[in-house]
Amino acid sequence: MPYRVGVSALPFPDPPLSDDVVALRSWTTSDARQWFDGFSDELCLHFSWPLVEPFTIAHVQQDMVEHEKMRLRGEAINFAVVEATEHDLVLGGASIYEVALDQGRAAAGYWLAPHARGRGLATRTLRLLARWVFDHLELERLELTCAPDNIASQRVAERCGFTREGVLRSRIRFQGGRRDSVVFSLLADEPR
Ligand SMILES: CC(C)(COP(=O)(O)OP(=O)(O)OC[C@H]1O[C@@H](n2cnc3c(N)ncnc32)[C@H](O)[C@@H]1OP(=O)(O)O)[C@@H](O)C(=O)NCCC(=O)NCCS
Repeated sequence: MPYRVGVSALPFPDPPLSDDVVALRSWTTSDARQWFDGFSDELCLHFSWPLVEPFTIAHVQQDMVEHEKMRLRGEAINFAVVEATEHDLVLGGASIYEVALDQGRAAAGYWLAPHARGRGLATRTLRLLARWVFDHLELERLELTCAPDNIASQRVAERCGFTREGVLRSRIRFQGGRRDSVVFSLLADEPR
């Protein structure tokens, strides 16, 4: 059955989204250690881990289960970012989430393991996600939010053609307090 927003599970692209350097595939349980190791560094925990409690491999395993439930409900889809030529080597993670069923809208997120940073791989990842969201899911607006001091992430958004729209004050619960978010967007008919 063809994908219909809000009605069916979000399908993993077949073949997987890929360029010459990165590919985006589904996570498997055997990736848990690589996910945990890649995400356990200071930068990911500072910018992407919302809780104050220690991040553990049990969180990864729990997230894998929850993410699959969300995918089946058509709410979000999570990808492992891997080398295009070596799908076993995890570089990071990426997601399309907050798929707004009737509004033609979703949000994108990403993180990279320390060894994968500084090579433009998040830019490649976001470009692949944006193309898929607009061309295959037929959504019309892709949002991206990040912390005001997350300069690398904001550069990635700008490189991919996103427009900075402003700062949403006290937007999210984060690490025991609340945090502002900078919001960016890319529209379907804009250059990417
Ligand atoms: C955000 C992230 C995915 C970007 O990864 P990346 O593709 O390796 O990005 P780069 O290191 O190439 O940096 C992208 C740009 O930001 C710049 N940059 C990186 N760190 C910076 C800093 N601390 N201050 C200013 N600029 C910085 C780079 O120079 C580069 O600029 P350019 O576009 O002019 O070349 C990565 O830093 C990461 O995983 N961070 C932790 C998790 C996270 O923040 N996720 C996003 C949540 S919104």
